[in-house]
Amino acid sequence: MTEKDFVPSAHYDLKEEGKVGFKSPSNIALVKYWGKKKNQIPANPSISFTLDACATKTTLAFKKLKSRGTNFTFDLLFEGKPKPSFAPKIETFFGRILTYVPFLLDYHFVIETSNSFPHSSGIASSASGMSALALCIMEIEKELNPEMTDVYFIQKASFLARLGSGSACRSLQGAIIQWGAHAATEGSSNLYGIKYPYAVHEIFKNYHDTILLVDKGEKQVSSTVGHDLMHNHPFADQRFAQAHKNLTKLKSVFKSGNLEEFIKIVESEALTLHAMMMTSYPYFILMKPNTLEIINKIWAFRERSGTHVCFTLDAGANVHVLYPENEKEAVYQFIKNELVVYCQNQQYICDRIGFGAKRLNVS
Ligand code: PMV
Repeated sequence: MTEKDFVPSAHYDLKEEGKVGFKSPSNIALVKYWGKKKNQIPANPSISFTLDACATKTTLAFKKLKSRGTNFTFDLLFEGKPKPSFAPKIETFFGRILTYVPFLLDYHFVIETSNSFPHSSGIASSASGMSALALCIMEIEKELNPEMTDVYFIQKASFLARLGSGSACRSLQGAIIQWGAHAATEGSSNLYGIKYPYAVHEIFKNYHDTILLVDKGEKQVSSTVGHDLMHNHPFADQRFAQAHKNLTKLKSVFKSGNLEEFIKIVESEALTLHAMMMTSYPYFILMKPNTLEIINKIWAFRERSGTHVCFTLDAGANVHVLYPENEKEAVYQFIKNELVVYCQNQQYICDRIGFGAKRLNVS
């Protein structure tokens, strides 16, 4: 598939009005996407677990305009209240996808959205939010063009979500999604996420992700700025090559269920992501002292308990604690006894691997 394949070829009649809705989850990358080219093309491939509890619900009501406009027109409600600060993001998103979704100028939209996780938890809602909105837009396109196949629907929804926020293209399906061209992964694409196509060992079923909210404040450096700093980064080429290698290694890990190797890849990826931030110019640090306290506690506990708990990090201070279902009692006790004290207001979210977005019954 190329970009051109997502430009609608047929002319379809516009419906007068309607309403669609989706609930879409967040995701946590195991091999990280950090650095991008023009048009949200990733500098390296990435892979993630789709999450379950952390999700965004979005409905999109549409009403045909008397005549096609030249500007986008929409109202936006976040958790039931108007949210003008989100409007520029939506404008930019609509502008980027207009070629692929020309009817955006034919309707007035009402976007209503809410998150299952606490607002200002420091958890990025762009992946769940942009994927939910992209799915709603595709649902309208499907109403206009009922012949559309399910494969096209999901590929194009992921393609559109990517243009909203890169990692959002990994949030539509579960349980493991890969995005970015990778020689050893058949069907992989820079344009959209695909379901991981190879064998996955039982041990990864129901994998847990307990998210420790270390710092709930606004990030000092946005991921857009962070991605940009990978241009002219002294270690960029090595980093991108490493991501390709780690994906290849993960392939045998997913098959064998070798958790020792899984941990090495996942923790190294998290620390490399932050190392890239610390070695860019300008440099910055998103980890907090408590992030490091938690990492050290996890290492000590893993050593003495023989469990396979490990951590990963997003572009922020929060820690994602990953562990298999069969170790959940021991690890959860450890989290409560030793890690929760490092969380802001003792807050954490129990999440786990999930199966992707769901259509909402809104009519
Ligand atoms: O989707 P963005 O542009 O917010 O970038 C997300 C980047 C990381 O979360 C740090 C890594 C990833 O692959 O999700």
